[in-house]
Amino acid sequence: MTVGIDAISFFTPEVAIDLVELAKVRGVDPDKYTIGIGQVIQSVVPKSQDSVSMAANAANFILANKDEEYLNSIDGIYFASESGIDNSKSGAVILKQILNLKSNIRTIELKQACYGGTFGLISAFNYVTLNPDKKILVVASDIARYGLKTAGEVTQGAGAIAMIVSSNPTIAEYNFDSVYKSEDLMDFWRPIYSDTAFVDGKYSQDVYKEFFSELWNKYNKPIDDFTSIAFHLPFSKMGNKALDQVLNDDNKDKWHQKLEIAKMYSKQVGNLYTGSVYLALLSILENASLQANSNVAIFSFGSGAEAELFSIKIKADYKNGIFGDTKNLLNNRRLLDIATYESIFLSHNFNGSNELMTNEFDHAKFQLREIKDNQRIYS
Ligand code: CAA
Repeated sequence: MTVGIDAISFFTPEVAIDLVELAKVRGVDPDKYTIGIGQVIQSVVPKSQDSVSMAANAANFILANKDEEYLNSIDGIYFASESGIDNSKSGAVILKQILNLKSNIRTIELKQACYGGTFGLISAFNYVTLNPDKKILVVASDIARYGLKTAGEVTQGAGAIAMIVSSNPTIAEYNFDSVYKSEDLMDFWRPIYSDTAFVDGKYSQDVYKEFFSELWNKYNKPIDDFTSIAFHLPFSKMGNKALDQVLNDDNKDKWHQKLEIAKMYSKQVGNLYTGSVYLALLSILENASLQANSNVAIFSFGSGAEAELFSIKIKADYKNGIFGDTKNLLNNRRLLDIATYESIFLSHNFNGSNELMTNEFDHAKFQLREIKDNQRIYS
């Protein structure tokens, strides 16, 4: 028996900004954003979407195609987010309700910055190993918010990745080869009273690079054992910065080309924190040509800081496990002018008042409709 990823899907809101336009308005050379940082388009979150509704939209792409037997075998929802909507109640239990899953299910929210989704995934691999007839829904959903006119603004973004973990999976099996590391560092954090992140930008990149370098050495496998590597991509150039540490003149061009494929979707979306590394994986699955039994390495990094490096072995029919139409979703977004983006950004100032959402910028299946008596109402 093998255990791994049976299905994957992605959701991001339907509005976005062109970062060349943002650069012009901010008085910055657009090449800094598109080449120096490596981002082209950034998803914008309308007020009718939050981490829970985005997660529901991503998961629904998979679940809408599954029969009762498959749905009833889902034994847990692991919802990873650092943009949770409640300090007590987990987004996972709300997801269970929105997605109409059975009640005899475990639901939990996980947080460790951008690493939370990976903890969910690895825990799900372990759970299904012990319970091969069960499945786990892992959803990683986030809104990356640094603030208008900050250095981090160009690295914002949002979206959700949903994955089903099962035995005898369709996409890839876990190789049970993880190496990991945690250390209490202040490179990026968001105090409970703040809706935007605090970050030491240069230091955060150094920590990322150091963690990758250390784990790569500990992992101690030849790079050519892998057909591709999915990196956590807070911005697309971060993957190059980490990988360049272990490349040489002979293999640099080949691996830069491979990285371009992994970065395709992130460049068009921005950072989605804990889902970001799995958006890179989706980009590889959809845009690279992968042989059965080839290995893809995954480097997950969450500030604060925690990282894990592991690999998955690709199955022959892996394309059958990809749900939703990510290319269509990305190509059909509406680009907003910068003034409209700024006003939407500033409108996310929930303060406990009752509020009805408009859906001027949103046609997604699941939306946040209303805040009433301090409760979020979805439909
Ligand atoms: N043409 C081409 N390139 C240009 C340029 C131009 N005209 N002008 C500048 N550049 C290049 C710079 O040389 C630099 O490249 P290198 O990093 O390769 O040297 C790059 O553009 C960025 O320039 P700066 O370093 O001057 O940019 P900055 O100080 O304004 O901020 C940033 C960049 C630190 C990434 C900032 O956007 C930020 O703080 N982002 C959030 C933090 C982050 O993403 N950290 C990543 C690691 S932490 C993590 O991974 C967890 C997570 O998700 C947050």
